[in-house]
Amino acid sequence: MSSNEPRNEPRDEQNVERSNDEPTGLPADDVPAATEPAPAEPAATEPAATTSGIHRPKSTGLATGEAAPGVPKKDPILVIDGVTRRFGGLNAVDVEHLEIPRGAITALIGPNGAGKTTLFNLLCGFDRPNSGNWSYDGRQLAGVPSFKVARMGQVRTFQLTKALSLLTVLENMKLGARDQTGERFWTSLLPFVWRGREREIEQKARELLARFKLDTKEKDFAASLSGGQRKLLEMARALMCDPQLVMLDEPMAGVNPALTQSLLGHILELKDAGTTVLFVEHDMHMVRHIADWVVVMAEGRVVAEGPPDEVMTDPAVVDAYLGSHQDVDLGVVTGRIEGELNTSAINLLEEIEEVREESAEGGDATAGADARDEASDTGPEASGTDAKGGRS
Ligand SMILES: Nc1ncnc2c1ncn2[C@@H]1O[C@H](COP(=O)(O)OP(=O)(O)OP(=O)(O)O)[C@@H](O)[C@H]1O
Ligand SMILES: [Mg+2]
Repeated sequence: MSSNEPRNEPRDEQNVERSNDEPTGLPADDVPAATEPAPAEPAATEPAATTSGIHRPKSTGLATGEAAPGVPKKDPILVIDGVTRRFGGLNAVDVEHLEIPRGAITALIGPNGAGKTTLFNLLCGFDRPNSGNWSYDGRQLAGVPSFKVARMGQVRTFQLTKALSLLTVLENMKLGARDQTGERFWTSLLPFVWRGREREIEQKARELLARFKLDTKEKDFAASLSGGQRKLLEMARALMCDPQLVMLDEPMAGVNPALTQSLLGHILELKDAGTTVLFVEHDMHMVRHIADWVVVMAEGRVVAEGPPDEVMTDPAVVDAYLGSHQDVDLGVVTGRIEGELNTSAINLLEEIEEVREESAEGGDATAGADARDEASDTGPEASGTDAKGGRS
């Protein structure tokens, strides 16, 4: 593991190592070539965010009904039914029904441990569910190994990057290509058969590296790249096989702010090119900025979905994800840090005071302190958000 990798991801399972036949989660040769990326449905658009001055309309009208968990989409690329994954007694994933709209950018959000990465692992064939089915572009994927899933046009990147450190940047890119004729035993003996394909692959790799501003690094070992550059390399490599669906697990985590903007731009460009994007992200500004649709997971389940502005102001989502006192600086409330009390903080103090009074009447002198602790536990640090909590 590189020291550049994000530090908020301690578990090994996030990092399922691939076997030799799936070194990058990208294609092998025995699967029919995926069709060209389908053009995005002509989705309705509304004026929305701009990135680097470029106007980016958001796709709207993606669902067929009211925004609610499991709502059918007009043109889903991924349809998930009854997918569960248990680890011992823990239901890490328990998704009843979920559809991902084609040609749009969908954000999958939820607190740490909600099951987002586990769901990615299942959908891409890196892990097996206890039950359930899902289809990609109308084809059942349950039981299909990861390298075939990638060959079919559904690729993913990892929360912790998977660049092969002792290969050069260009070599890493070439691993992402499909139809590598030179890898087959008999054709490998006939250089005139594979050299042409090899040249095509190199050209494509160089074009993508240039697009991701990594072209000057092509001869460097991947190990020498920064965490942000590795994220870019992983995304660029994923595009080597012309995917229709790109799944990005925390593409911004650990990325230097200077590179964040370019990653954002690349994700928007993918949508422009008709590629569907499903990404996991904790940065709510980014989600609000680029997502057309947001799916919220908590404790393995989908608890809400809908357009970003609707979903992210839903009190149930705020409670599940951010904690009910997410905008309260608990340091100020408890008096450990000097600062002004906002309305939420005042409300919280009043709640605490009420509980204190009730408990004093009931003769339980410790209840007030318990209430204070409980209030702290629902605060930002307890819920794993980046909001400034005051506990030190
Ligand atoms: N291989 C495993 N063995 C045991 N428990 C696991 C395994 N993989 C995941 N889990 C557990 O499943 C739950 C969901 O984990 P997962 O990594 O999918 O969450 P996540 O939503 O991606 O969280 P984060 O935002 O922190 O990345 C967690 O409680 C985690 O500890
Ligand atoms: Mg995760």
